[in-house]
Amino acid sequence: MKLSGSWNVRALALSLLFTGASAFAFADGAPRTTPKPAPAAVAQKPGHAAIASANFLATEAGFEVLSKGGNAFDAAIAVASTLSVVEPESSGIGGGFMGVLRTAGGHESFIDARETAPAAVNPKDYLNADGTPNRDTSLNGPLSAGIPGEPAGLVLLAQKYGKLPLTVSLAPAIHAARDGFKPDPRLRGSIAERVKDLNRWPASAAKFLPGGKPPAEGELWRDPNQARTLEALAAHGLAGFYQGETAEALVKAVKAAGGDWTLKDLATYRAKERTPVAVDYHGYHIVTAPPPSSGGVAIAEILNILSGFDLAGLDEAHRTHLVIEAMRRAFRDHNDYLGDPDFVKMPLDMLLSPYYADGLRQSILPDKATPSSMLPAVSARDPGMHTTHFSIIDKDGNMIGITTTVNYILGSTFVAGDTGVLLNDEMDDFALVPNMPNVYGLLGSKANAPEPGKRPLSSMSPSLVLGKDRSAVIGSPGGSTIITQVLEGILAFVDGKSATGIAAQKRYHHQFLPDRVDVEDGVFDAATADALKRMGYDLHPREPWGYMNVVTWDHQTNALDAASDPRRPSGLGKVQ
Ligand code: DON
Repeated sequence: MKLSGSWNVRALALSLLFTGASAFAFADGAPRTTPKPAPAAVAQKPGHAAIASANFLATEAGFEVLSKGGNAFDAAIAVASTLSVVEPESSGIGGGFMGVLRTAGGHESFIDARETAPAAVNPKDYLNADGTPNRDTSLNGPLSAGIPGEPAGLVLLAQKYGKLPLTVSLAPAIHAARDGFKPDPRLRGSIAERVKDLNRWPASAAKFLPGGKPPAEGELWRDPNQARTLEALAAHGLAGFYQGETAEALVKAVKAAGGDWTLKDLATYRAKERTPVAVDYHGYHIVTAPPPSSGGVAIAEILNILSGFDLAGLDEAHRTHLVIEAMRRAFRDHNDYLGDPDFVKMPLDMLLSPYYADGLRQSILPDKATPSSMLPAVSARDPGMHTTHFSIIDKDGNMIGITTTVNYILGSTFVAGDTGVLLNDEMDDFALVPNMPNVYGLLGSKANAPEPGKRPLSSMSPSLVLGKDRSAVIGSPGGSTIITQVLEGILAFVDGKSATGIAAQKRYHHQFLPDRVDVEDGVFDAATADALKRMGYDLHPREPWGYMNVVTWDHQTNALDAASDPRRPSGLGKVQ
């Protein structure tokens, strides 16, 4: 579609987007967004607890640990470790997580338990002879795996924030692994989908294909090896996984299958606490993911752009138009600039500045889509359907949201020897070849190139939305769509929706490239869809995506609400 005045849009966009300096220059004289002060700290205690996760056994494990005197952080350890056993297609102790938390006393923090590249990482291992990406080495087997972060993240949570020893908080997961559980249809389907790859590694086939086949419906499935590994973690903390027998078995199995991990890679791994990204929007204080996630920066940029518009006063088509344009501009930035903060310098002050957002806002036309081709191109991502998120608020008002992953379905499909640990394939989240898309369509820059010890860029965006009257913990899996799902969840919460309403809400997604709006069936009524098409949007129907798990807290009544995404049947949101 040809736009009238398109040259002006291009000139404007180029002047805005090539450098931060020109964005500031353009913004000069334009209406500016003044950051609103954060609301008063949440001081009440709900008196009961809410947990929402993607698997009912994991939600129940969280409540079991709360009943033993644990707090939200102990419950988070129980939920994450149980998901490792009962939802291994999405996350596990062979992967990594990112978590945002707030203690009842008001301390906010972010746990980065993301995997790291091993010291021997060799970018050439991920290239074919003609220089194109080798999807097999980046997605399957030991070369695709980063050094796991999840065990260290759980230990950090227990030591710094929990009340109970790991022997108690890991007990439900150990029980599920040792005594067995009935895999749900999603797990059985995931195993069936990856039979070919699982059969390449004897320990993987032994774990996931008992008797040569995926577990049958109703069959009890056990993994005593993973139970033993979890027991070592429970008994010895970090040393139980990253040193001694487990570490030796991991390194031996990886090396025997063509990977290159050392005992030092494991012994030196540390989960890190980072300062979360914070942004204020319409009286709410949003606490979200900093790099090495791109999610929080993108969400903050979008909310900063939107805070200069009166969204409530617009019809749905115009409101959606502005949200999509804000998404487009934030996604344009995110892969270009962002990477592991321990390795790359990032212009975060610029990207998070309300003045930068003011400049971007000025480039949005009132009634027309801006084709992405008119903005200087950077990169794009496509979504996936694995990874998992859970949200918890306990009786004292401690809050935590964790998004955890092994990356692709069943990660690398590589189980390391007799440890029962399924390794991730997070190496594919690096920009292995600059400007060549990864499995999610990612075109990354040097900022996200693989280097020894570096963390690959993530989209995981667990977020807290803190208000004077209501607060929420929101998050979801879904690759790049995590960012837009969480954004739409925040906007819905600010509009007054309940946890159930937020999780059920229909979704749309734009990520700069490809230049189209992915739409879930029914997200727009016919009139809104027509209006958006007339503005120049390519509406692209897609199967439903995401697996959102939300908890909310009404500070007036102390009522809690918990909801698991209705698109998937095995989750459970529960208040007790
Ligand atoms: O960290 C990331 O952004 C990806 N490894 C997450 C992958 C994901 O969410 C897949 N899909 N649901």
